[in-house]
Amino acid sequence: MPGWELIDDKEKESILEIFDKSNGVMFAHGFDDRRNNIFRVRDFEKKFAEKFGVKHCLATTSGTMAQYIAMKALGIGPGDEVITQAFTFVATVETIIQIGASPILIESDETFNMDLEKLEDHINERTKLIIPVQMLGNQVDMKKLKKISDKYDIPVMEDACEALGASYDGSFVGTHGDIGIFSLDFAKTITTGEGGIIITDNDEIAKYIREFHDHGHESNPKVPRGRDTRSIMGLNLRMSELQAAVGIAQLDKLDHIINRNRHNKSLLKKLIKDNENIKFRKIIDEDQELADTLIFYFDSVDKASQFVTQYNESGYFTKNLPDAIDWHFSGTWNHMFVDDKNYKETWSNQWPITDDLLRRSISIPILVNHTDEEIKEQAKIINNILELM
Ligand SMILES: Cc1ncc(COP(=O)(O)O)c(C=O)c1O
Repeated sequence: MPGWELIDDKEKESILEIFDKSNGVMFAHGFDDRRNNIFRVRDFEKKFAEKFGVKHCLATTSGTMAQYIAMKALGIGPGDEVITQAFTFVATVETIIQIGASPILIESDETFNMDLEKLEDHINERTKLIIPVQMLGNQVDMKKLKKISDKYDIPVMEDACEALGASYDGSFVGTHGDIGIFSLDFAKTITTGEGGIIITDNDEIAKYIREFHDHGHESNPKVPRGRDTRSIMGLNLRMSELQAAVGIAQLDKLDHIINRNRHNKSLLKKLIKDNENIKFRKIIDEDQELADTLIFYFDSVDKASQFVTQYNESGYFTKNLPDAIDWHFSGTWNHMFVDDKNYKETWSNQWPITDDLLRRSISIPILVNHTDEEIKEQAKIINNILELM
């Protein structure tokens, strides 16, 4: 599962360097006479861009704000519609509403991501952005999606917050749209505690997001920071040097995390005996998925509840389904439309397919540090529960 399992001396040493070598300069800009030329946010962004094979990378405060900044760069605002999906984290939708646009949410198919067969039906002249979300490590079929977005000339922002490390068609998810965003919060593949990343190959977008996340600073080399030039208004959404120091150490562990995830998941899946009670989530490409969860679903909510009760009693936990379903399914988010009575009344019931699918589903987190022996024991527990159902 996540980078927190692997936190060790590498992160500690990376942070200590800021105090030992950089006189404790935790700010990403200025203080040139104190910092001995140590710029960890810059280093982290460069390393991330190289790893992902993209031109530009911006480190920011969270995945939520990465999405906000990216939508600002694309000029999204009141009157616009942004298409995303009913199964996502609350952040994807609250950010669209906070920016003043209207979220249009599409049902999930058996990949648990956006049902692309339904995408074109939701496009109209107000549609300004499509946000596919790569939920719980599974890829979106980006070739299929891009065929539609290209036809209508609509930009695509991949919300790959839950899939950092998964690949599609040979390159990392997040690199297939106009913009990709990632979260580095404490539950993610790699973590800086809190944090977010935006990647893009578009120079204009890259310039805007960098200035916006830093109060509009243009980082003009001809003047000191206090006299810096500006042409847009922004906010302070900067990552600190301490977070970036941790990020650098975590990024070094990414390949190991992905390899362990894939090994552990495929072993667990192989050890779960064929059982007519369950179906596994459809994965676009099993060799390239993040593999940080194993998701299966029952034919009834009762069976799913029965399974999870016994699974929890055996000392195991699930990831998001069903334990945090209310934070990941739009049908429970009436609080978002408190000022719009009509919308609120119709809000909850728009996604019966997703509602039904999620409530019958179980998501088993895959742990990076699990040994084969521990996985065999886990499979035994799962098989025992399933056999008695
Ligand atoms: C799909 C998705 N989008 C956005 C976010 C927001 O990321 P952050 O927690 O870094 O704000 C998350 C975090 O859980 C997420 O899962």
